[in-house]
Amino acid sequence: MAFGKTVLVTGANRGIGLELVKQLLKQPNRPEIIFATCRSPDGATDLKKIAEEHKGVEVIKLDVGNLDDVKSAFETVKSHVGDKGLNVLINNAGILHLEGRLQDVTPELMMESYRINTIAPTMIIKEFLPLLQQAAKNESSKPMSCARAAVLNMSSKVGSIDDNSSGRNYSYRCSKIALNMVNKNLSIELKSDGILAVVLHPGWVQTDMGGGRAITSTTECVEGLLRVSEGLGEKDNGLFYDFKGKLIPW
Ligand SMILES: NC(=O)c1ccc[n+]([C@@H]2O[C@H](COP(=O)([O-])OP(=O)(O)OC[C@H]3O[C@@H](n4cnc5c(N)ncnc54)[C@H](OP(=O)(O)O)[C@@H]3O)[C@@H](O)[C@H]2O)c1
Repeated sequence: MAFGKTVLVTGANRGIGLELVKQLLKQPNRPEIIFATCRSPDGATDLKKIAEEHKGVEVIKLDVGNLDDVKSAFETVKSHVGDKGLNVLINNAGILHLEGRLQDVTPELMMESYRINTIAPTMIIKEFLPLLQQAAKNESSKPMSCARAAVLNMSSKVGSIDDNSSGRNYSYRCSKIALNMVNKNLSIELKSDGILAVVLHPGWVQTDMGGGRAITSTTECVEGLLRVSEGLGEKDNGLFYDFKGKLIPW
């Protein structure tokens, strides 16, 4: 089932977020409005070009760790969507500190990763909840899905305890596993509203974060993420999937 009419993507100026915007625009039943957020719109050259060339792409300033930005982004989105609400919120923005071994970990690195990868998505969902609820209500004849209302949280397989065979990267691993728990909570709390909550692993992707040795192109990653997301339903609520649709153990 195609995504609903309105979608928001954080960290949309580069990497996976930018590719999400590009591919959402190519969908046969593309969303009417894509809110592409980034922390520095002035420097978001590629994204601004896309917005100039396509109708219904709104570039919004959003430093995900800044609550004033979150509130102001909410007001902007609300003024655009009116009573349509927001069908899909994609918490994509994230940071990775490669601090390695225990001796390299600092409280600052742990807190910064937690602030951006865990707290920020949580506060964004909290702020945007009324718009997600509105969309879910408008589309109440549809089953739980991205066509109705959904939160998609970009996590990582390295946030899986089960998958951890190499250690290291304490702050990133811990921040993503905490995000997974936030998602599980959401899947319970928002179920009665008809809002789906799923965590996604995009693969090891050729972006600034993924680095030069990464094996998956942003094109392949996002084709997969969109295919998987379009197939999500109530049975998937609260679960953790990779971009090929494989269930990831916690
Ligand atoms: N690439 C991989 O192999 C991989 C693997 C697993 C999971 N992921 C996850 O996938 C997501 C996207 O990663 P990516 O590979 O596309 O990374 P990326 O190329 O490094 O891009 C990260 C994006 O997040 C944004 N961002 C970082 N801090 C932000 C803040 N405080 N406020 C707003 N935006 C902020 C960046 O904006 P700026 O340009 O302003 O910095 C950028 O748009 C992340 O959540 C990441 O953890 C990636």
